[in-house]
Amino acid sequence: MGVDWKHKTIRACIGLGLGLGMSAMLATGAAAEGLVKYEVVDDGVPQSLTGKPGDAERGRKVIINRKQGNCLACHAISVLASEPFHGEIGPSLDGVAERYSEAQLRLILINAKAVFPDTIMPAFYRNDGFTRVMKKFRGKTILTAQQVEDVLAFLKALK
Ligand code: HEC
Repeated sequence: MGVDWKHKTIRACIGLGLGLGMSAMLATGAAAEGLVKYEVVDDGVPQSLTGKPGDAERGRKVIINRKQGNCLACHAISVLASEPFHGEIGPSLDGVAERYSEAQLRLILINAKAVFPDTIMPAFYRNDGFTRVMKKFRGKTILTAQQVEDVLAFLKALK
């Protein structure tokens, strides 16, 4: 119990550093696009942000890009084993499409804090609620609506 708690705290601290760094540094993705309005239904966002399905291959690139998704900083994904440095701060994303519906995964990507209130996972499609964001990043999301859908297309294949 005690050991587990300590371990979690250490992981959370590493993650917090990463998470804070990321929301400051990485909020570059979505140029000046206005935020697409989305509707949360139960615990998910059922409608595509772009009105179309995403592209899994483009999603893979966003996931491994250290300046975009940077998901591997915190998550391991076996099918991307050839990529270096898979983090252990978050759970492995193997089989994630079996644990969550598409709508749930979309909400986790848009704003992980809506699903895991205390998480250090960045909200990839939110442009408010950040403190002390550098001026040039204000009003911008980490990923564009299209990139969210592309990452989602990749995650949906992780069964
Ligand atoms: C700074 C670390 C960090 C980054 C970067 C990050 N995540 Fe996470 N993620 C987490 C943590 C921690 C959790 C576990 C939820 C919690 O905090 O309780 C999580 C949970 C998840 C879950 C739910 C997994 C499950 O099995 O419950 C999904 C899906 C997910 N992340 C996808 C992604 C994707 C895709 C990216 C990149 C676009 C990403 N995450 C980037 C830390 C991160």
